[in-house]
Amino acid sequence: MSSTTYKHFLDLADISAEELREILDEAHRCKKARAGLPKGAVDVDAPLSGHVLAMLFEKSSTRTRFSFEVGMMQLGGTSITTSADDMQLGRGESVEDTAKVLSRFVDAIMLRANDHNSLLALSRNAAVPVINGLTDYNHPCQIMADLMTLEEQGRDLKGLRLAWVGDGNNVAMSFINAAAKFGFQLVISTPDGYGASGQMVERARGAGAHIELIQDPLKACTSADVVIADTWVSMGDTDIDKRMSDLGDWQVNDALMDVAAKDALFLHCLPAHRGEEVSATVIDGPSSIVFDEAENRLHAQKAILKWCLGK
Ligand code: CP
Ligand code: NVA
Repeated sequence: MSSTTYKHFLDLADISAEELREILDEAHRCKKARAGLPKGAVDVDAPLSGHVLAMLFEKSSTRTRFSFEVGMMQLGGTSITTSADDMQLGRGESVEDTAKVLSRFVDAIMLRANDHNSLLALSRNAAVPVINGLTDYNHPCQIMADLMTLEEQGRDLKGLRLAWVGDGNNVAMSFINAAAKFGFQLVISTPDGYGASGQMVERARGAGAHIELIQDPLKACTSADVVIADTWVSMGDTDIDKRMSDLGDWQVNDALMDVAAKDALFLHCLPAHRGEEVSATVIDGPSSIVFDEAENRLHAQKAILKWCLGK
């Protein structure tokens, strides 16, 4: 292992509230500091000059890929992006050996994995920081961008009431893990069989999270400050028809936004499916901040990269 200090970014539950707060503060600072610059211009201090990030994708991506690539460019570093299938990993080389080999070439590794255990194996065997670019279990980079976006709207996260509507999936899991760290209230509304893991909810509550499970989406959204949707069919889900039918009543639409707080905001990590988990009137309407949310993946991840590399 290298003697340099580095940290993995795998799960919000593993990182202290203080450190997560520092990352968000840095994200806001980084974004303001480069306002008006062309998107490819390097930040004045070029903090990751000479550094290389490897990005491995076992699943598709638009936002994660572009935000990390442009982020490394802005930080003065460079990146190499590949589909895991194009590597020997796709032909059966172990994650453990891949971690050891890549650690000889690059300064950090981002992985989007089918199985969270692959990410853990990579992090245990890498001599450089490993960043979670989404797994079947969680999506921590996304939630950092989401919370940054709410703060940009002038919202204080402490006590803010967030309502998650739909599938209790990987993105929901990271909101659960973030709740105790940032002090917001989280209401989760899912049909039977689609709930977030009870064990994880209990763990988060044990860590101080305020989490309510309210199945009825109308009740869940009542007085919510923020309403959140995500796809009914995540990458890797195969039971598409069943999901479409089971989740049909968990669409975020005007009826749900009408019972939310008057100035409620709408979040969605994207990609979105209008007419399924969200109506076009909501995602394209005045409450929606989904494109600021997408942009903030860039700024939040630059702060995460700097934190991982001790810069
Ligand atoms: N929200 C998100 O992670 O988007 P991509 O799948 O396009 O990276
Ligand atoms: N829950 C979705 C998020 C995509 C960014 C998925 O895993 O496909």
